[in-house]
Amino acid sequence: MQSGDYDPLRALDDAVMRYSARLFLGFDWDNATPERREEQRAITPDIFAFYVRTESSFVAEDGEEIVGYVLAQPLQHFDLEPLAVWVEDISVHPDHHRKGIATTLYRTLAHWGRSAGATAILAGIHVDNAASLAMHRHVGFDLYESRMAVWRLD
Ligand SMILES: CC(C)(COP(=O)(O)OP(=O)(O)OC[C@H]1O[C@@H](n2cnc3c(N)ncnc32)[C@H](O)[C@@H]1OP(=O)(O)O)[C@@H](O)C(=O)NCCC(=O)NCCS
Repeated sequence: MQSGDYDPLRALDDAVMRYSARLFLGFDWDNATPERREEQRAITPDIFAFYVRTESSFVAEDGEEIVGYVLAQPLQHFDLEPLAVWVEDISVHPDHHRKGIATTLYRTLAHWGRSAGATAILAGIHVDNAASLAMHRHVGFDLYESRMAVWRLD
């Protein structure tokens, strides 16, 4: 992923968010306020800039068009793996689902991770996201049920 990819990724995010909002996020994307949409998005200027800098985020192209992306960063997670790769998001344009694009993005990320010395890839998945659960299982992830604890400091 490169800094010039922002505009096409933002357009891709629109299509993905409309799809995901209807399918499992449970809100009406088309009638949501711009503020509410911004809260839900995977691609904002800050997130995009951060994940360009990690040098471990990748896009999938079909000709000139960007049709998928994975946002990832290396993570020191000492009680689990010495060096892991944390996946913030992986998404594919709804018109290009079931063509192996997410699988290919993960293979590319795994190649990067191995060469960086990582021993695992970690991802958080919404419990109602059946497609994502199936895709992660297909790629080779073991799925665990877990609870996240968040202490808000703001
Ligand atoms: C989840 C997502 C990234 C999968 O991308 P994709 O490119 O369609 O996935 P792949 O083509 O690599 O799928 C690989 C395998 O996963 C499984 N799979 C993928 N989507 C599935 C679905 N909707 N239902 C059942 N199995 C599915 C299948 O086993 C598939 O292999 P097959 O097509 O040969 O049967 C895509 O549906 C998406 O972008 N969804 C919206 C955003 C999202 O939920 N992102 C994940 C956040 S954690």
